[in-house]
Formats: sequence, C-alpha cells, structure tokens
Amino acid sequence: MLTQMSGLCPLVLVLLVLCGIWVPAVSDVGDFSPCLQFFYRSCPPKGLTGTTICQRYLNQFRFATLYSRQRRSPWFSAYVYSVPAGKRPPANWKFEPQLAYPGSDGNMMLFPPGSLDQNLVDSQGVELDYINSTYSRGHINPSIHHKSNEDRMATFTLTNVVPQKAGSNDGPWETLEQHVNRTLASFCLGESYVVTGVIPYQSEERWLKNHRVAVPEYLWSTYCCPNFNHSLPSELKNAFPTYAAIGRNDRNSSQEIVPVSEKAKKEFKGYDVRRMSLEELEKVLRDRLGTEVRIFYEGCAGLD
Ligand SMILES: *[C@@H]1O[C@H](CO)[C@@H](O)[C@H](O)[C@H]1NC(C)=O
Ligand SMILES: *[C@@H]1O[C@H](CO)[C@@H](O)[C@H](O)[C@H]1NC(C)=O
Ligand SMILES: *[C@@H]1O[C@H](CO)[C@@H](O)[C@H](O)[C@H]1NC(C)=O
Ligand SMILES: *[C@@H]1O[C@H](CO)[C@@H](O)[C@H](O)[C@H]1NC(C)=O
Repeated sequence: MLTQMSGLCPLVLVLLVLCGIWVPAVSDVGDFSPCLQFFYRSCPPKGLTGTTICQRYLNQFRFATLYSRQRRSPWFSAYVYSVPAGKRPPANWKFEPQLAYPGSDGNMMLFPPGSLDQNLVDSQGVELDYINSTYSRGHINPSIHHKSNEDRMATFTLTNVVPQKAGSNDGPWETLEQHVNRTLASFCLGESYVVTGVIPYQSEERWLKNHRVAVPEYLWSTYCCPNFNHSLPSELKNAFPTYAAIGRNDRNSSQEIVPVSEKAKKEFKGYDVRRMSLEELEKVLRDRLGTEVRIFYEGCAGLD
C-alpha cells in the first residue's frame, strides 16, 4: 500500500513533527503513517527520500519500504525482528500493484504468468530483470528474521529486493543475517527494529538490463534493541542497544569503506562485511549520499 502526504491524520502529523521529519506536502515522501509500528519510536529514518510503501500481504502490514522509482529498487526496508521458526517458504515473487496503478488494492500480488502489462514493467523491477543477469535477488528484509510463515512470504516481493552478487548473498551477508538472528534471539528482551538498505555507486551507476534496475555498490544494515539482557558475553559488549554493518557488493570496489580479507574463500573474496557502530554507518551514509542521515530516533539512545 502506497501512502500520500495528504492522507496524514493530525496525530501522525504531531508525531512526524516530533521526530523532525516534516517535509513539504509536494511529494509522497516521508509518510509511513499506516505502518509506523515498524520504526523505533514510530520514527522513520531521516535524510532519505523516495516512495513509501507500507508492505501489505494477506490484508496485514508486514514491514515498510522506502522505494526508488528511478532505481526500480528499494532504498531500505524496515521491520521488527522475530525469532524464525520453520522452513524458508518457496520463492513466489510478488509486486506492488499501487506503483503501477495508484487506485488498486494495497496488497502485494503474485506476478501473473506470461507477458506483463507495460504499466507494471515501467513502474518497478520484474523477474525478467534478474533472470540471466549476473546478480541474485537479494532480500533486504530477509525471510529468516521472521517467525510467521506469512511474514516470511511477504519478504518475497521485488520491491524488497536489490541486485546482489551471489558471493555476498550466499557468503558474508548471509553470515551477518545469521549473526544478527542469533544475537537478537539470545539477548534482545523487547522489540528489535531493523533497517537494511543500500549505497549506490558514486559515479557510473550499474544497471540490470537496459537502465532497468540500479545495482547497489554496498548494502548496510542496523538494528535498535533498547531493552536487552545486560549480561552480555565479551564479544557482544558493543552489540547493544544498537549495531550496524556495511557489506561489499562489488569485488572491485576500493577498500576505504570495507577492507577485503585475503583469507576469505575464493567465491566470497571481495564481498566482506564490516561491522561498526551506528554512528560510523551514519557517517559513511552522509559522506556518500551528501546528506545527514539519521536512522533511529535519538540514535536508539536506549531509553525504552
Ligand atoms: C537465459 O539463458 C538461457 C541459457 O542461455 C536461455 O536458454 C534462456 O532462454 C534465457 N532466459 C531468458 C528469460 O532470457
Ligand atoms: C536463528 O536463531 C534461532 C535462535 O538462536 C535459531 O534457533 C535458528 O536456527 C537461527 N536461524 C538461522 C537461519 O540462523
Ligand atoms: C541474561 O543472560 C544470562 C547469561 O546468558 C542468562 O543466564 C539470563 O537468564 C538472561 N536473562 C534474561 C532475562 O533473559
Ligand atoms: C571487476 O574487474 C574485472 C577486471 O577488470 C572485470 O572483469 C569485472 O567485470 C569487474 N567486476 C565488476 C562487478 O565490475
């Protein structure tokens, strides 16, 4: 379900002003009002602009995405972590009908078989963009961070996917997702709010197909768990209340943001993930995007 600034109710308006994210009503940016529960203190990240999607599946909101229509891929997805159970669901890929037809139903839909309507193809990434490319479909909100099968199935929408090299997706990035899973499952006592997004190439953007879907140079992820078990093992002393990481999606990138380990297995070499503080992540985002980015309200200061 897409939302427009004009749909703001007064309560949300007050909230948005409190979080300091009020933007002029000229665009559809910054209004996640039907799905603010996926953000710490109901405050979406500040500093990134795009089309908001409250991701709805089987008539329930599952997570939130800031989508780039130009890039035909997300800036970030935000969700509340829950300890996973059961198997990964089959990859039944879905799309967001409201990106193509504003008046349509807000539930994500399965791609129909056969050729697709041109409005749909123009409005977002489709399966053909990824088929036979050298990139896998990288979930930014991963199915392994959710308990219910429906929440897991809802992550299989291409509006939650970016072109990701297999060496990252099946290597260090997957290891990070599993590490976050174990860390939060073991030591987070309340809600964990996770936000995962992308950093574009600085010059010379890369695309799938003919300028169809923009490839990110890096992926980033961070969580906020204000209420945690303070008896932490030494290796997790810095992991609460908030922690972050950036992962390489291109072997050839320079090493200033994330250095390359020479010891990695051949297929994963050059796809390293560097763990860091939220402040370090926000500094990289500021340098690369040229704007101040604040992911969590008051930096997830830990007052629950
Ligand atoms: C993908 O590549 C294979 C092998 O070259 C080819 O048979 C198939 O038709 C291609 N699929 C698409 C959708 O282009
Ligand atoms: C996630 O963490 C839970 C709890 O520690 C564990 O049972 C499960 O196997 C983990 N799942 C994955 C995919 O790592
Ligand atoms: C906190 O962690 C310690 C050490 O792992 C464990 O013994 C204790 O039961 C945990 N407390 C809670 C409230 O989960
Ligand atoms: C990395 O560089 C090599 C050698 O210059 C080139 O063949 C390859 O396509 C580059 N990879 C990417 C993802 O640009």
